[in-house]
Amino acid sequence: MGSLTGTTALVTGGSRGIGRAICQGLAEQGANIILHYNQNRAAAEETASTIKTDVRIIQADLSSIPETESMFDDLADTPLDFLINNAGIWRPTPMGSTHSAVVNEMLDTNLRGPFWVTHCALHLIKDGGRIVNVSSVAGRIGVAGGRSLYGATKAALDSLTRNWALELAPRRILVNAVAPGYITTDMTDDFFSDPATLEKVLNRQPMGKLGTPEEVADVVVFLCSDGAKFITGQSINISGGLVI
Ligand SMILES: NC(=O)c1ccc[n+]([C@@H]2O[C@H](COP(=O)([O-])OP(=O)(O)OC[C@H]3O[C@@H](n4cnc5c(N)ncnc54)[C@H](OP(=O)(O)O)[C@@H]3O)[C@@H](O)[C@H]2O)c1
Repeated sequence: MGSLTGTTALVTGGSRGIGRAICQGLAEQGANIILHYNQNRAAAEETASTIKTDVRIIQADLSSIPETESMFDDLADTPLDFLINNAGIWRPTPMGSTHSAVVNEMLDTNLRGPFWVTHCALHLIKDGGRIVNVSSVAGRIGVAGGRSLYGATKAALDSLTRNWALELAPRRILVNAVAPGYITTDMTDDFFSDPATLEKVLNRQPMGKLGTPEEVADVVVFLCSDGAKFITGQSINISGGLVI
């Protein structure tokens, strides 16, 4: 029995990477999991098989408003203690050579996605519940490499975090964000397959290593715990000192 026994968490993008570790971390503390995925059913099932509490798998492309709404129709009256807005994408958008379709995909997935998910989830989230948004240090600093729109969507997510914290305070819903630095997942796999890029990044890491999904999940679990009951509107860097 963990400190979150009897609670229910909806984790978007829970199939892989950071979302998978969040599902596992919350479940280790006893939370039941609603595990959302988009394209990778097999990965979602693999993650679900590692979870000992109740787990329900749901699917939707959260860049689509109709699909998001239909997912919440299926959730009907399921009360939620925690909503973790984790699903996201990291696409290059170099200035002067980016197709408008990529701009739309980035905005629809990383910004309108969590906004509409939270809009739809609001009547299910219990008073006193928690929302944790998975942002990025890229929303706080300039990062070379032509991914400005990614940083902009994450800066916007931090702004939503602060504003929702105020807006939802009357219902005692706490809203915080985690802002990971470089974490080893499928998202960064290709990027770090180039040894020169990896070396360059490691040279800028004060702790001399990349982060793990579990190191992000630990902070999300804390933000859902009783120990975080007076924290709201914050975005916490988890970057091993990359951003200080
Ligand atoms: N990895 C890093 O270094 C890093 C750093 C800072 C912030 N982050 C943020 O952390 C979050 C998770 O990243 P990750 O590294 O774990 O990525 P990942 O391994 O690529 O996993 C992404 C997850 O998001 C889901 N997803 C992607 N597009 C979606 C869509 N249109 N609708 C619904 N779900 C969608 C995927 O579902 P399917 O697989 O089922 O399609 C998957 O579960 C993202 O918000 C990312 O921006 C990551």
